[in-house]
Amino acid sequence: TPVRYEAESAVRSTGSTVDSDHAGYSGTGFVNTPNAAGAHVEWTVNAPVAGSADLVIAYANGTTTNRPLDISVNGTTVVAAAPFAGTGAWTTWRTVTVPAAALTAGANTVRVTATSANGAPNLDYLDGPA
Ligand code: GCU
Ligand code: CA
Repeated sequence: TPVRYEAESAVRSTGSTVDSDHAGYSGTGFVNTPNAAGAHVEWTVNAPVAGSADLVIAYANGTTTNRPLDISVNGTTVVAAAPFAGTGAWTTWRTVTVPAAALTAGANTVRVTATSANGAPNLDYLDGPA
């Protein structure tokens, strides 16, 4: 069973808010970043052992335009500009998986950073290794 890290408990860049106005999210809400490049959310993901693990990020993008995110682990970009395509509605939540991310034992930082002026999609959670 993966361990879930809610976005509302993660560190987020200035101007981001925790909102709950679009149903279907996990936990108590989701993070709504400003519509700006550089907006980011950073989770601390605990790995029981060093090794590779899938990271699953849940989001909604109610627009028809991709909201690309750079995804970094411990400061190194592992996926550049992952698309985070439109999901059809702000209440429709989908996941993007980062396969086999290299993690160290213990705390790892996983940061997603918007690369376009539209900012990040709404971010719900990250599922990490058990
Ligand atoms: C709407 C929507 C927000 C979303 C924002 C955006 O305002 O209600 O949840 O974050 O669009 O475009 O980023
Ligand atoms: Ca937003």
